[in-house]
Amino acid sequence: MFMSGKRVLVTGASGGIGRAISLALAAAGAELLLVGRHRERLEAVLAELAGGTHRVVTADIATAEGRAAILAACEGMLDLLVNNAGVNDFALFADQAPERLAQQLEINLVAPILLTRQLLPLIQRRRGQIINVGSAFGQIGYPGFCAYSAGKFGLRGFSQALGRELSGSGVIVSYLAPRATHTEMNCAEVTAMNRELGTATDTPEAVAEALMQLVHRPRPELLMGRPERFFARVNAFLPGLVDRALYRQLPVIRRHALAAVQGRG
Ligand SMILES: NC(=O)c1ccc[n+]([C@@H]2O[C@H](COP(=O)([O-])OP(=O)(O)OC[C@H]3O[C@@H](n4cnc5c(N)ncnc54)[C@H](OP(=O)(O)O)[C@@H]3O)[C@@H](O)[C@H]2O)c1
Repeated sequence: MFMSGKRVLVTGASGGIGRAISLALAAAGAELLLVGRHRERLEAVLAELAGGTHRVVTADIATAEGRAAILAACEGMLDLLVNNAGVNDFALFADQAPERLAQQLEINLVAPILLTRQLLPLIQRRRGQIINVGSAFGQIGYPGFCAYSAGKFGLRGFSQALGRELSGSGVIVSYLAPRATHTEMNCAEVTAMNRELGTATDTPEAVAEALMQLVHRPRPELLMGRPERFFARVNAFLPGLVDRALYRQLPVIRRHALAAVQGRG
């Protein structure tokens, strides 16, 4: 098993994608540290894992205490850090409370950067790998997801800059961008919008498979989905074309975003 004896930390391990990633890594022989804020949810994933050397770490990555608890649990050794924990809040920008905007940036961008800073010496010692889980919205700013897009654009920039800074050091930094995926992160309104717009949606297992490809053959970036890769390129070189395409989708996005806000009360 190619991950035998490797210590791996997965944040957001109790969520849809985190669980699938953890199962795949455990099946490859890795020794896992599962991080999330709710112990019961982590223990449910722990009970499903192959092998017996895995542990849960109940911690909020957005707090200094949480990150200190994670560092302590690593016991000086880490081969792979998967920054996967994330939140999103589907709403038009003007409808979002400032605290919710700040929270998304804290959890999706600031916390993974600070956690990486704290764990980097351990990863350097093992010439390990960091995989940051971004999103297709880290390349394509999408209406209804302003703060989420901002965080994921930032995470991609961080991954690229750190990867370049560490080139030649033996540490690899990778950015994995899933497209829409069936998990609890997407509220009913996002699911309904994706259906109406014909947006392709992956399973968490497909994301885990992509992550395992990055572990097998490390490289700086993996964007999931052929249409999403194409849109990302068009957005980089001819953003006006994407502006027009999204302008046509805007009434549908607005309707579902308003329903999401009303649903939350
Ligand atoms: N689902 C999609 O459509 C999609 C698409 C592209 C990218 N992604 C990205 O994939 C990653 C995983 O998302 P998912 O779909 O699996 O979401 P999910 O099912 O909602 O899981 C999110 C995970 O993050 C944890 N988490 C949230 N805030 C945390 C915090 N402050 N400290 C520690 N853990 C925290 C949650 O556990 P607790 O709540 O118990 O802490 C949970 O384990 C995210 O980075 C997301 O942006 C998702």
